[in-house]
Amino acid sequence: MKKQPITIIIVIIAGLLIFLIIDRFRRPCLSPGELPESFIHEHKSPEYDPGSYANRRQRIIAHLLEKDLLIISAEAGDDFYYITGFNEPQGIALINPGNNKEFKMFVTPRNPADAMWTGERHGKAGAMEIFKADTAYLLNDFKEIAKQLISNQTRVYMHSRDKMISDIVEEIINKKELNIEQRNIDSLIHKSRVIKDEWEINQLKQAVKVTGKAHSWIMQTMAPGQKEYEVQAEIEYIFRKNGLSPGFPPIVGSGPNATILHHTRNDRIIQDNELILVDIGAASLGGYTADITRTYPVNGSYTPEQRKIYDLVYKANEAGKKKMKPGYKMLDCNHEANRILVEGLHEMGLIPDTTVWWQKRFYIQHRVNHYIGLNVHDVGEYGFDPEKRDEHILTPEIRGRKLKPGMVLTMEPGIYLQENRLDYLHELFGDIADPCELNEFAEKVRPVYEKYAGIGVRIEDNILITESGNIDLSEHIPKSADEIEAAMKKQIP
Ligand code: GLY
Ligand code: MN
Repeated sequence: MKKQPITIIIVIIAGLLIFLIIDRFRRPCLSPGELPESFIHEHKSPEYDPGSYANRRQRIIAHLLEKDLLIISAEAGDDFYYITGFNEPQGIALINPGNNKEFKMFVTPRNPADAMWTGERHGKAGAMEIFKADTAYLLNDFKEIAKQLISNQTRVYMHSRDKMISDIVEEIINKKELNIEQRNIDSLIHKSRVIKDEWEINQLKQAVKVTGKAHSWIMQTMAPGQKEYEVQAEIEYIFRKNGLSPGFPPIVGSGPNATILHHTRNDRIIQDNELILVDIGAASLGGYTADITRTYPVNGSYTPEQRKIYDLVYKANEAGKKKMKPGYKMLDCNHEANRILVEGLHEMGLIPDTTVWWQKRFYIQHRVNHYIGLNVHDVGEYGFDPEKRDEHILTPEIRGRKLKPGMVLTMEPGIYLQENRLDYLHELFGDIADPCELNEFAEKVRPVYEKYAGIGVRIEDNILITESGNIDLSEHIPKSADEIEAAMKKQIP
């Protein structure tokens, strides 16, 4: 009788052990391809909005037919990100407009071993739950599924950067001897990217706000004797402190370096009485970059010569901005800004004859606007060939495409009076101008030019085109010479 409780306990323990052993075999081990649900990565950015990406996909496939298929991978860079929001190094999106606009994603498996090194991947579950794919597969399944789907289509749209995808598609088409047209999706995506939606505009506002903070900070911290890279470090400190990063390498050009349009060495010691041209842009959490330039007097006060050039560029910026609205075309604001610059330079004696193209071209180096977005020089049609600088820069007849609400563009006139540039007139314009004419020009303008030599000024704002005009997103950043001098006098609180 006494032995009974012990027997019961032994039976219970043995039962428990048997249950645990059986259960261990009943529960599948983690497959190397998938982590448990608890690993599903929560998208951290509060700005993340899957609806925006779905809208963009809709906008693009609205141009496709039922028998079309769209295939795009992470190799396509920003264009892939633009329609998926998926920021892993690898991934493929496949959209089938004919099958209820089905959106399939092919992703890297979740793998505990890799996760130790790279952090979690979203995996199939993440692709569906977070990125709203209707179905998700592993990348390895792509070829097999593409084989089945492509056979039923008449056209496949792909991206020009997608070499791997186009090789696979080509192979499938050739093997099956299919009569399928291969088309390029780039321009349809770029067409959509030109008009920013509300979410994108908020991203740009976030980027502009932090870029403005960096400009305010350096206005109070810069001083003669610093290196350009120290100013750059202060800028990046403000970007990083606010959770953002540079959208492009910061341009910090002091003294003569202010006349180098894309100076990024940033290693010179800044001297007293010099200008410092600061062209910077933070990129938002979603990857949208601002592009804002101010040109500061490093010691807080412009010299009369610096102010003269600064005021002229400022006037051109303001005049050009007035033409940035629906009803005008892309280059109308450019021509207006350049018209002001040419007029001012003529009055100063730097352009003796404004009817001579090369005399103007000597001073006018670039267009005053470009789109901003996921790239600092964002994609999209301009209505002219942006590569052919000389053909449109001072050609008022070329006006480009119409400005539309939702476009976001820079307004960035500049004057750069590089020292000794008058000595290069023959190299610059020898093929279109008579040598005597060039010598005469140099002789005439040299006394004035030398007064201003070494001065470089650019003033750049970020402008959102609206139904009724525009909103200058960078309006709050001190811009006129007076505003900048006043801001630089303020002490850091
Ligand atoms: N802000 C200079 C550039 O756009 O190239
Ligand atoms: Mn720019």
